[in-house]
Amino acid sequence: MERTLSIVKPDGVGKNLIGKVIKRFEKNGLRIAALKMLKLSKDDAKGFYIVHKERPFYESLTSFMSEGPIVVMVVEGENAINKVRESMGATNPKDAAPGTIRADFASDIEHNIVHGSDSKESASYEIPFFFSSLEIQ
Ligand code: RTP
Ligand code: MG
Repeated sequence: MERTLSIVKPDGVGKNLIGKVIKRFEKNGLRIAALKMLKLSKDDAKGFYIVHKERPFYESLTSFMSEGPIVVMVVEGENAINKVRESMGATNPKDAAPGTIRADFASDIEHNIVHGSDSKESASYEIPFFFSSLEIQ
């Protein structure tokens, strides 16, 4: 059993896709162990994406992630990290496999609807960034 952190990003919330994203995870054999909606400040977004601080897209990514509400969730199941990443598709929707969330709904490489932890190490930073142990069922 594994846990991962997923986010419906501001574009996904704006496009009314919260339910569709959750449905894809559930259809893929995963369960939602924690869930909430919130809005990040620019500094919150910078902290969350601190691994990308040297990247050229860090400024615009953190502005985008703080421009509107997001839905954060802990997703649980066997191989949850890989299963969520598979459901999401490649970062750039142009490269995303047909039937993935990003292929179906994302508009460009930055506005790509959904986030998922990319490793156990990332998940162990990202889950407690948003949730206390009491909030994970
Ligand atoms: P995420 O972390 O959001 O799950 O996405 P990812 O692993 O597929 O992609 P990553 O390389 O971690 O990049 C994080 C997010 O930054 C934005 N991005 N913009 N303009 C660009 O070239 C560019 N590259 C990445 C995307 O929103 C990406 O999901
Ligand atoms: Mg990533």
